[in-house]
Amino acid sequence: MIVLYSLMFLGGYISAAGLGLTCPEWPLCPDGIMPSEEYLIEWIHRLAAATTGALVVATMIASFLHKRADAKIRVTSSLATVFVIVQITLGALVIDLKLHAVLVAIHLGIGILLFAMVLMTTLFAFRIPSSAKAVAHGRGGGNDGDSSRNNSDGNSGASRGGRGRRRNPDSAEMIQDAATAADVAH
Ligand code: HEM
Repeated sequence: MIVLYSLMFLGGYISAAGLGLTCPEWPLCPDGIMPSEEYLIEWIHRLAAATTGALVVATMIASFLHKRADAKIRVTSSLATVFVIVQITLGALVIDLKLHAVLVAIHLGIGILLFAMVLMTTLFAFRIPSSAKAVAHGRGGGNDGDSSRNNSDGNSGASRGGRGRRRNPDSAEMIQDAATAADVAH
């Protein structure tokens, strides 16, 4: 996420500073694989893109190799892989077609989708399953997913719904009280 965020930040800078075509070739700049002062920002953008690509693909492979990986992680990391491949290909087209406005806009749009998928993968990866929490608290009970979380923290949908239903008569009473108080004051 940090590499991707920096990459997008740098992309915004390249675009706003009008540096998009300083390096007119793809995949390498005219000076080859080593960085040079002339194409430094573009070079860093490409290096960060290659690093992001490698990290995203590695995350997807790891999610499929890990037997207990959440299915949601597999979905978001696979979508991230699709987006990163499209995005890198699009980067080449952006240069080939001399910063065509539509392509630059799509490049930004896919970048945001990619960021969303990487963020979701990260959130899913760090989320402690509610069933594990219930086990840790000695409250297994066979429930899974959200329903067990709701049950384990005493905030079940039913009780929330219950409170919601009770709240209506309460507010009706409050309106009634306010009306009575207004009558008395009058
Ligand atoms: C994961 C890969 C990539 C991401 C997430 C990414 C992201 C971005 C973002 C967010 C921008 C700013 C767009 C805007 O402000 O409208 C940008 C600009 C740009 N990117 Fe990328 N980029 C990636 C890969 C590449 C690659 C591989 C190339 C070319 C080799 C490339 C070339 C460019 C260029 C030339 C611009 C400037 C466009 C302009 O001047 O308006 N990008 N990138």
